[in-house]
Amino acid sequence: MDFNEIDESAIFKNKSVLSPHYVPQELLYREEELKKMMVGVAPVFKGFKPKNILIYGKTGTGKSITSKKLLEKMNDMKDARVKGIYLNCRVYDTRYKVFQKLVSELKNEFSKTGYSFALLYETVLDWIEEKERFIIIILDEIDFVKDIDALVYSLTRANDDIQKGGLSMIGISNKIQFKQKLGERSKSSICEEEIVFQTYNSSQLQGILNQRISLSFKEGVITPGAVNLASAIAARENGDARYALNLLLRSGELAERKKTGKVTDKEVEEARKMAEEDKASELISSLPAHQQLVLYALALTSADVSYKKLVEDGGEKYYFSGEVYDHYTKISKKFGFEPISARWYREYIHELEEMGLISSIHSGSGVRGQTTLLRLALENSKVKKIIEKTLMK
Ligand SMILES: Nc1ncnc2c1ncn2[C@@H]1O[C@H](COP(=O)(O)OP(=O)(O)O)[C@@H](O)[C@H]1O
Ligand SMILES: [Mg+2]
Repeated sequence: MDFNEIDESAIFKNKSVLSPHYVPQELLYREEELKKMMVGVAPVFKGFKPKNILIYGKTGTGKSITSKKLLEKMNDMKDARVKGIYLNCRVYDTRYKVFQKLVSELKNEFSKTGYSFALLYETVLDWIEEKERFIIIILDEIDFVKDIDALVYSLTRANDDIQKGGLSMIGISNKIQFKQKLGERSKSSICEEEIVFQTYNSSQLQGILNQRISLSFKEGVITPGAVNLASAIAARENGDARYALNLLLRSGELAERKKTGKVTDKEVEEARKMAEEDKASELISSLPAHQQLVLYALALTSADVSYKKLVEDGGEKYYFSGEVYDHYTKISKKFGFEPISARWYREYIHELEEMGLISSIHSGSGVRGQTTLLRLALENSKVKKIIEKTLMK
């Protein structure tokens, strides 16, 4: 292989257009939401303090991209007294980190660490008051902030303390229940204005995909059936544009590997399966060791023909929970773990079932006193492979 080969794709023109970080030139279907945000922010350009805004909606409904468009619109005003700052709170996940980032955006000499919070706070206030400036801070994925009430309190207090100029926030959350976790005071200060982003329907997702296709894929590579299916799948599952784009990207990669030169329904179907497996794999590898060992024991039990099994009507094979526990105990010891008690084991089974990783039924008749029967929700070999990769490497 040489560099020319890497450059040469039969499928893609520019893959990065499909990445979640790419900001398309035109925002579709979000004029209303963007306008509401602009109306909320507009007072700064007349020298008044704007209200705080809270935005929420499920993942992939365009909250981040719309807030970035808002920033663009603010910058277009070229008003030196107004500063818009976008932070993702997955990274800036404490009040201290948010203020530190804020200050480093305002003053370059403050890029070092080690300042006290009080100094950072004063610096923000001074910067605003010095020239009657305004800061609009966009806190994306704000639910990741660990001391959220403290952060909201400090931002609100700063705004109250400022005589001329202002500091307002736009909080964004993927979690609808986020508000419930806030203290009463934070709730009322952050939710002066609320904007909800609804999930996309199939035709909107189709529009979002089509907008990127001509930029990312070579002419005529994508069949219309593939776009229809990808948007239908994403609409049915969660109305998530990120997922729809990801399906398209994966489908393209599959077509590239197959060297067929076309992305059809088949690739989209396969891509969906891959995405599901990835999600499960991420979930499994983040579980505590003993839950992984329980899954592993179930995978081995299912693969071992000498174990008793019970065949359900649907043809799915279930295994005695007690036998899986025995297997689990052996495996734990083999890998140097102290096995958990049977009581905890039942608790784990329950949790794993809630996560959709296993399914259980009751045999009713009480064979050997063990009436619970289990099976994995995913293929045995896949589960085995994931756990061997994370736990037994
Ligand atoms: N209305 C839209 N028009 C064009 N692209 C969109 C739109 N909404 C979402 N996207 C794209 O879908 C992906 C997810 O959007 P994002 O704004 O990150 O969602 P959220 O922040 O709500 O989880 C991004 O790649 C984004 O560019
Ligand atoms: Mg987002």
